[in-house]
Order: sequence, then structure tokens, then C-alpha cells
Amino acid sequence: MKETAHPHFAQTLIRWYGQHKRSLPWRDTTNPYYIWLSEVILQQTRVAQGLPYYQRFVETYPTVQALAAAPQDEVLRLWQGLGYYSRARNMHHTAQLVVEKYGGRFPDTYSELLKLKGVGSYTAAAIAAFAFKEQVAVLDGNVFRVLARVFGIPDDIAAPASRKVFQKVADELVPADEPDTFNQAIMEFGAIQCTPLMPDCLFCPLQQSCFAFNHGMVQELPVKSKAKAARPRYFHYVVFELNGAFYMRKRLEGDVWQGLYDFYLYESESKDLPEEQLLQELRQAGVPVQDAQAMPVSKTYKHILSHQKITAHFHRIKLHETLKNDVLTETRLGLYNVEEIESLPKPVLISSYLKDARILVSL
Ligand code: ADE
Repeated sequence: MKETAHPHFAQTLIRWYGQHKRSLPWRDTTNPYYIWLSEVILQQTRVAQGLPYYQRFVETYPTVQALAAAPQDEVLRLWQGLGYYSRARNMHHTAQLVVEKYGGRFPDTYSELLKLKGVGSYTAAAIAAFAFKEQVAVLDGNVFRVLARVFGIPDDIAAPASRKVFQKVADELVPADEPDTFNQAIMEFGAIQCTPLMPDCLFCPLQQSCFAFNHGMVQELPVKSKAKAARPRYFHYVVFELNGAFYMRKRLEGDVWQGLYDFYLYESESKDLPEEQLLQELRQAGVPVQDAQAMPVSKTYKHILSHQKITAHFHRIKLHETLKNDVLTETRLGLYNVEEIESLPKPVLISSYLKDARILVSL
């Protein structure tokens, strides 16, 4: 075994892992496809929330070929609720690439995996270590935190340049004989022992050698600069209903929720309800609506994305005839019945409205 900088560190973590690890399905496999799926999902969410998504994906698409062949709408629908839908689109795209260019087999080294469009250093390291036992460190938020505290690394973990610093420290800690177990162990240790707010220092096996513990800096490390304040946006959706069916449209690229379905959207600059403006726009668009009373407004919905804070209202309008063709061309709206709406991929905000308005029975 290659000597690592701190052999005691790896051994201690691996022993701790043996006693404390949670039993999780992606830990019982060396199939790179399952490992890749689990890591893409877990970058998005915590284990408890990610687990049912992982199970649904594995059941629906047992092989990378099955995922590659699936329609994009179906993949996005299965991803619904996890957020960052570009991840799902990239994942789908990567599956197609693996099938078309690599004959359905994932490359088996870190550097080859990195060449796959859509696979970054985190995911490449995870697949290389867990599926192929390559001696490379997997760096996620948990690992950053553990390393910053134990070794007293002061670099800002939110700054992209810090990654190199942490990667160098981490790579030297990975034991050659158990890179897979070590990487699972340090992530698990960060997730359940060395947690962000209330780490269990009292019963920590690394307490004696931990820089942060010894210097009273557990709350100060890791250093993480604050994200910019989210930009507020005000959405006014117009829900056109015709004989129990609804007009919806697929969102284009260049804004949030690309590829998901929502309603006719009017966006305003302020949070005031711009009823008059909205009516004016609708009349101009050739929609037969007389006054604000004809479009009762929903309660306020709020949805927080990483850089945006969306406040939305829904205005429901019952139509007596179909929208004209030029309106449909202009707005890209199409008429969908309730069953179709159920299976469309939608932002959670839209699903919540549909449920509250009793248009759909579940999210
Ligand atoms: N978070 C990210 N990857 C993980 C994994 N493999 N096991 C548990 N939690 C994780």
C-alpha cells in the first residue's frame, strides 16, 4: 500500500464508517451506470429525498440504453421536484453519448470519464473510485467541510479556485487498497458526524487531531462566502380553460425551467397585481376577455431557485371557444386534457397550483 500523508486519518474514517454507515442501494453495486445515476441525483438533494428518485430511475430505466432511448419529457417528469432541470437534460444527453460513442459502457478511468460531456470532476471521481477502485478523491460539500476542519484549510469553499487546494490534500489521503470505501466514508462522516451546524465533536474519533476542534474554530470552518441575493421575479400566469382542458406550453431555452410545461405568462416588474396591464395585453393578443372579474386570481405562490425568487399568481379564464390560430402560433400554447397534463413535466410551482385548483389530484 502506498503511504499516505495521514494513514491514521483514512483508517480512522474507514473504521468509523464500518460502525455508522447507512445501508444505501448504490453502495451495494459496482455498476457504473447505477453509481452515476445516484451521484447525479445526490448532487441535487439529500439522501432521504434522493432515494425514492434513485429507485424510480433504476426501475424505469434499468440500463443506460433504456435511459438513452426514453423521451425527454418522460425523463423530466421523473426528475420533477428535484430542481435544476438542466441536470436531468444533461444526464439524458450523457446516457445517449455513452450508448452511441462508447457502445453503452462507461469509460473506466477518471481521465476518460472526464472527457464525457456532462460529467464533471466530482462525478468522474465518484464513478472511478466506486465502480473501478481508482485512487482518486471525491470532493463534495461534505468532504470540503471535513478537510477544512480537520486540517484547518482556510480557503473559501465557494470559490472555484479553492477546489485545487482541497483536491491536492484529499488525493494524498486516499488509500490505494480501499479508495471506494474511503471516499464513501469521508462523505458519510461529513453527512452524519461532522455536520455543518452541530457536529458531534464530543464523540468524534478525529477530535484529538482536528485543527478546528483544537483551535475552537468548528463554527468558523469551512469558510464559505455568501451567495448573491436572489433576483425577485413576478409571474402572472393566465390559465385558459376550455371544456375541462387547459392551454399549456413547453418552456424554451434561455430562462428557468427549460423543457418544462407552464401556462401563458405575463411577467411584471413589481409585485403589484397588474390587472389592467394584463387585460390590455390579452386584448391585444386577441384573447376574448372583458374584465378582471372574468379571471379570478389565485393565492400567492413563492418559489426559490438558486439565483431567483419567483412570486406567482394564477388567473383562471374559462373560454367558450378555442383560441385563434394566430394566438396559438404567437404564444406556442396547446390544449391538453387532464390526463395529458398529469404526465407532462412541470415546475413544482405549476404542480402545486394544479393540485390546489383541483385540476390534478396529486403533485
Ligand atoms: N452524497 C453524494 N454521494 C453520496 C453517496 N455516494 N452516498 C451518500 N451520500 C452521498
